[in-house]
Amino acid sequence: MAVYIEELNAAVRKAVSGGGPEAQKRLFREGKLPVRTRIDLLLDRGSPFLELSQLAGHELYTPRDDVACGGIVTGIGLVSGRMCMVVANDPTVKGGAYFPITVKKRLRAQEIANENQLPCIYLVDSGGANLSRQDEVFPDKLHFGRIFFNQATMSSQGIPQIAVVLGSCTAGGAYVPAMADEAILLKGRGAIFLAGPPLVKAATGEVIGRDELGGAGVHCRISGVADHYAEDERHAIELTRRAVASIPVHSSFQNVCDSQCTSVASLLRGSSSVGSGVNDPLLPPDILNDLAPCNFRQPTDIRRILACILDRSAFAEFKPLYGTTLACGFAHLSGFPIGVVANNGVLLPDSALKGAHFIQICAQRGLPLLFMQNITGFMVGRAAEHAGIAKHGAKLVTAVSCFPWPKLTLIVGASFGAGNYGMCGRAYDPRFLFTWPNAKIAVMGGQQAAGVLLDIEGAAALKRQQNNNQPWSSEAPRTQGKKVDRNAVQQEQQMKMKQSEYERMYDLQSSAIYASARIWDDGVITPQQTRKVLSLAFAAAMQNPKTLMRHGYTNPAYGIFRM
Ligand code: COA
Repeated sequence: MAVYIEELNAAVRKAVSGGGPEAQKRLFREGKLPVRTRIDLLLDRGSPFLELSQLAGHELYTPRDDVACGGIVTGIGLVSGRMCMVVANDPTVKGGAYFPITVKKRLRAQEIANENQLPCIYLVDSGGANLSRQDEVFPDKLHFGRIFFNQATMSSQGIPQIAVVLGSCTAGGAYVPAMADEAILLKGRGAIFLAGPPLVKAATGEVIGRDELGGAGVHCRISGVADHYAEDERHAIELTRRAVASIPVHSSFQNVCDSQCTSVASLLRGSSSVGSGVNDPLLPPDILNDLAPCNFRQPTDIRRILACILDRSAFAEFKPLYGTTLACGFAHLSGFPIGVVANNGVLLPDSALKGAHFIQICAQRGLPLLFMQNITGFMVGRAAEHAGIAKHGAKLVTAVSCFPWPKLTLIVGASFGAGNYGMCGRAYDPRFLFTWPNAKIAVMGGQQAAGVLLDIEGAAALKRQQNNNQPWSSEAPRTQGKKVDRNAVQQEQQMKMKQSEYERMYDLQSSAIYASARIWDDGVITPQQTRKVLSLAFAAAMQNPKTLMRHGYTNPAYGIFRM
């Protein structure tokens, strides 16, 4: 676990360093504030920032095109007492231009804002779409244009959209402030135009300066493209906080802040840190590193992990004597009442049934769910198939898919195959999905996958041989002289090489950092950060408790349970 955590820390250090020391120096020379300082100033003093997708872009492109943090910082924080989604370009990373992963990260932030009904604040300082990768960022449904579509549709649902232009904002990017409910534009540095001065000159021959074309004076006095004129960056941030202060506070947020959820309220207000409240777990978070499942062949008692995370380590277990490979129960997290579904071994027919039953209870009671994954898969083999594992597993998947309240997923170990589905993997729309650095996410383990692939390849080779009318015999190579014997040995060596090649590939592709670089989750967190991160995530999720209503369903809304 120490090795995994060191790997994570190194990746995080790289992500937060943005475009590197030279780019930071240049920023300083230009009198601009670094992106993270801008966010710090924006947030209520002392309140936490739940940063998302921090490792996006990690080792994704060539070193020359390294996009630290995906070139954009996103996360949830308190601004003027409201929980908001903050999306901020980092101009030190390739001029803030949008790589494919930047677009994906921004769209994910908007999706989270939409699902949880969080006002959006965009700190704009960007060269817009990456012109050398236009086919990967421009034409498709979930490409650049979707950003503005989302702004319009969120605004139509009453989710405020506020843009602050602190640097460049050219061409497509100009629609960020233009589509916002309110836009703040910085004197001197901020500029909004559909085409910059060089393009204007090329297109029409008109020679015009940057400020005269699209500066704060033009847009706040003449065009009306922006609403508030900022003298400097700090003033721009102050104007933004003022704009947010005029948004009515969501009633469910008031609930979060009332006495029922004292720990979350104090956490949000920065008046206490997790680790000093009355609700704290009885077991210290330090022991989680020893409990983290790193070797999936060894069983892990998930209740011990839960005891380090849940309020007062209390877990009221449901059906503790039945389907024991899935631990289900009622608990509190920083004061929030939640249901917990946690793997305690391979999924069997009875544990899948128990999970589906428990999820229905939580649906009836309006309890949000926490899924804790450490799952190598559903049980395979004659006994399991004859017992109907497929239909029982399907019940769990149905219950998870149609659950009408917020779901959160944390992967603490393995997340393989259909187990990932039954336990609310990415495709099942958890409001947030976080992983521990030791987590492995793949269709199956590398060793098993290599075995299956080699079996399939062997069978295909056999079929080809038979189609060529060559009688095949497994004995043949060894009985036909020395030369063929050598072939057999070579073949065996090749098989071994292929086996380890497949295993290496699976090892790389299933790592938590690899997954996070591609935004298959919302971040890799350490065991010690878990309680705080999950508490903040639940606080955000409870801004909009009704999940399925968003899709127009009415309760109860389950599909047919195959009996
Ligand atoms: N597409 C691809 N790469 C871009 C880019 C874009 N839209 N905008 C900036 N970059 C790259 C630059 O090529 C440079 O790469 P390098 O470090 O590998 O040399 C890096 O980002 C930094 O750009 P630079 O121009 O040196 O930074 P700057 O701070 O002086 O200026 C901008 C930033 C955004 C004002 C300027 O780069 C610019 O005008 N970009 C193009 C804007 C545009 O017309 N966009 C159209 C989008 S639809």
